[in-house]
Amino acid sequence: MKNFGLHIWGDENFVIQDDTININHASKPSLLQITQEIREKGYKGPLLLRFPHLIKKQISTLFDTFDKAKKEFNYTGSFQAVFPLKVNQFPNFIESLMEVSSTYSYGLEAGSKAELIIAMAKTPLGAPITVNGFKDKEMIALCFIAAKMGHNITVTIEGLGELETIIQVNDEFNAHAENPITPKIGVRIRLHSSGIGVWAKSGGYSSKFGLTSTELLEAYEMLKKHDLLDKLWMIHFHIGSQMSDIAPLKKALREAGNIYAELKMRGADALGAINIGGGLAVEYSQHEGKQERNYSLSEFANDVVYLMQEISKRKGVPEPDIFTESGRYIAASHSVLVAPVLELFSQEYHAKGLRLKETNPPLIEELHDLYTSLSREHAREYLHDALDHMESLLTLFDLGYIDLEDRSNTEILVNLIIKKSISLLRTEGTDELKKLQDRIQEKYLVNFSAFQSLPDFWGLAQQFPVMPLDRLDTKPTNPASIWDITCDSDGEIGFNRDLPLYLHDIDVSREEYFLAFFLTGAYQEVLGMKHNLFTHPTEAVIHFDETGQYSIDKLIEAQNLMDVLDDLDYDTNIINKTLKYNIEESTHISAEEKRELLGKMYLYLSENSYLKTIQANNENLENQG
Ligand SMILES: Cc1ncc(COP(=O)(O)O)c(C=O)c1O
Repeated sequence: MKNFGLHIWGDENFVIQDDTININHASKPSLLQITQEIREKGYKGPLLLRFPHLIKKQISTLFDTFDKAKKEFNYTGSFQAVFPLKVNQFPNFIESLMEVSSTYSYGLEAGSKAELIIAMAKTPLGAPITVNGFKDKEMIALCFIAAKMGHNITVTIEGLGELETIIQVNDEFNAHAENPITPKIGVRIRLHSSGIGVWAKSGGYSSKFGLTSTELLEAYEMLKKHDLLDKLWMIHFHIGSQMSDIAPLKKALREAGNIYAELKMRGADALGAINIGGGLAVEYSQHEGKQERNYSLSEFANDVVYLMQEISKRKGVPEPDIFTESGRYIAASHSVLVAPVLELFSQEYHAKGLRLKETNPPLIEELHDLYTSLSREHAREYLHDALDHMESLLTLFDLGYIDLEDRSNTEILVNLIIKKSISLLRTEGTDELKKLQDRIQEKYLVNFSAFQSLPDFWGLAQQFPVMPLDRLDTKPTNPASIWDITCDSDGEIGFNRDLPLYLHDIDVSREEYFLAFFLTGAYQEVLGMKHNLFTHPTEAVIHFDETGQYSIDKLIEAQNLMDVLDDLDYDTNIINKTLKYNIEESTHISAEEKRELLGKMYLYLSENSYLKTIQANNENLENQG
């Protein structure tokens, strides 16, 4: 797998040129070139690179595909879309999103008061805003304020209590207003169809959100009684993120479509839109045969348009506008996390580590012969012999017959034999060989936090494509597991025999090696945890101009140590004073040394918590950038 499954997950966003992975756009710079340019400016540690052209690509593909489906079926309703803020609220992302979507009437979805404020400030007037999730009176009042500003805002009712509050707020805002303005109203319906995958419980009768049929009828009556039926214009559902199979969506569409038609026939004349939420999946897999979704965007769009049309025709109601709130699909591909490898943890298994003596125990001599004469023809037999010898040698050590150097030689030789046999027998791919890969896996210590940058890997075992930035003309042979720098054994992407990752054999004391984690733009940043106080990594936005050249913009460095503590509400003045006092009052050190220590300490306090380097002789490499 020399291309790391790029043809499966890459969507032609990246291309391998010579030995590097490059952006398949404009001047096609390599990720390595961009990374090195940022590091030369003095930024170390992990880097999150954002690519607005990839956000634009997703938005236009979404709109174009639905337009095509509408044309194909002569569908009369419009297609509209909003971006759900919960997927990524970071300003460098949202600002890029709004910039690249300006030719579409693309809006934002909010699920909390803070998100609503972002939506009110960043959505262009006229583009849609939808507001989902539980709301109190203040949040509903904010929706009314947004409507009065001129926003095209829809408040989704998640329960009857909320509708009562809307009626109350409407009275307060509009009873005496010269020009009464009320937000549009949507209702989230509780489907009996459930979703599929990890987030399946977003749908189904026991889901947290939405109105049952009985509540829906009650809501209808309440709206009618309070003269608000002309505001009811949207039916909403969301069956769960990263929908792997299209079948549950079809079921949900039939259910929601019929609810729409029934309400319409009952007299909900203003009802005109069906909001299918998110769920559109992203292909994260980098392994053949392990794909995460069984449908394309065209199939998704065709199904939505066709089913809405079929139900509308059958029930004799107008075809509704179609709304989506796809988040993962829009945001995932836009960012790449690049992290330097700091160390490899099984380098002691190199032949140069052998401490063979003039006379070695006979079994070690035999192991050495097996290693030097290993060929494809005898690989399996020699491998079995080596494993057998190892058991005997370890027993001899336990009984005190061989020394620590002999034991070390045993480990190295057996490891080398396993490694060589696996590479000689690779085409056979037997279970035995797969299992043995666990024994020789190389641990790559990588300068990032899995909790901060890949929380879905930690919490949900979600895989993300990973590959090195260069050496792509060389076949990687080390079965690899990735260790992050947190002090937590969960911060490891272990070698997985079924989804194996191979990386290159490198000497990090002499050369740089960076890993890139792709498709990290959805949910990862916002769910990221400051475990061990590793914060959001340094980020940058990569823009391309008309001539195709790129620029590195909006660089934001990871928080420095004092800011991290300040965020936790430590009084950093007191911390500062205490540290300074402890140095100044120390009776063990000279005045000159005190000045030196204070200088160093203040320098370190101004830096972020990611590591610079592990190996002393690597410092020059880091300082070169
Ligand atoms: C109501 C609603 N809409 C949209 C989304 C976005 O879903 P996705 O990221 O799968 O597109 C979510 C995600 O949980 C949601 O709850």
